[in-house]
Amino acid sequence: MLNVAIEAAREAGRYLHASIGKVRNIEVKQGEARNLVSEIDRGSEERIIGIIKRHYPTHAILAEESGGSDSPAEYKWIIDPLDGTTNFLHGLPLFSVTIGIERKGEIIAGVVYDPNTDELFTAEKGAGAYLNGKKLKVSRSKELIDSLLVTGFPYEIATNPGQTVNHFVNFLMEAQGLRRLGSAALDLSYVAAGRFDGFWEVYLNPWDMAAGVLLVTEAGGKVSNFSGAPLNLYGKNIVASNGVIHSAMVAVLQNPA
Ligand code: IPD
Ligand code: CA
Ligand code: CA
Repeated sequence: MLNVAIEAAREAGRYLHASIGKVRNIEVKQGEARNLVSEIDRGSEERIIGIIKRHYPTHAILAEESGGSDSPAEYKWIIDPLDGTTNFLHGLPLFSVTIGIERKGEIIAGVVYDPNTDELFTAEKGAGAYLNGKKLKVSRSKELIDSLLVTGFPYEIATNPGQTVNHFVNFLMEAQGLRRLGSAALDLSYVAAGRFDGFWEVYLNPWDMAAGVLLVTEAGGKVSNFSGAPLNLYGKNIVASNGVIHSAMVAVLQNPA
């Protein structure tokens, strides 16, 4: 199954890369002015689902642009065909394809592919996380002041959901540095790779996180919700870290004043 996910992610990545600057039709999603979709997001998703269905016609699919099936299948493929749409639409080469495979509620495999750098992040439950075949390990930073953190902003940012702005300012004051890349799947992959020490965000969807959370845990890191309780992939808030700074991050998130 991981090989099929890799095949689909690479195929979709090639398509995305070849489509930079060729977008014809941009639409607003759910009436939110910042939440955009184009025919390229849909084209990428069609390619991914086509490959999965060819190999596993009975498996369930949950994909950002076409939604989910209610089939009671043992396996569910959770897909974001273009994570980083805003970057993509501006020609900023910071986006990814991400596919997670869930079995009975547990993520058992995941892929994040960056077609701009040809970096392929893969993980299988219990078998480690890899970047282009090389084993990944999270960073060893012990304190927030030694940590480079990353976050993202939900499209509903104008209402400051979950006190996003407050958390951003608080981490800015505590951490060594703070970044916002625009692809949650890459943010999580980079935590797994030790490039970032921690990541948090509100209002994410399961397709943004499915593969990335397995990458982080398989690389020795930790994921939870903002209270430090086990992460619910469908629960929409996440902290991911190297494990060492996790409680310090949760402490900041518990005090948004
Ligand atoms: C978005 C990206 C971004 C995050 C947003 C997501 P999309 O996904 O992951 O980094 O901050 O919350 O919605 O819309 O580009 O697939
Ligand atoms: Ca996304
Ligand atoms: Ca997307």
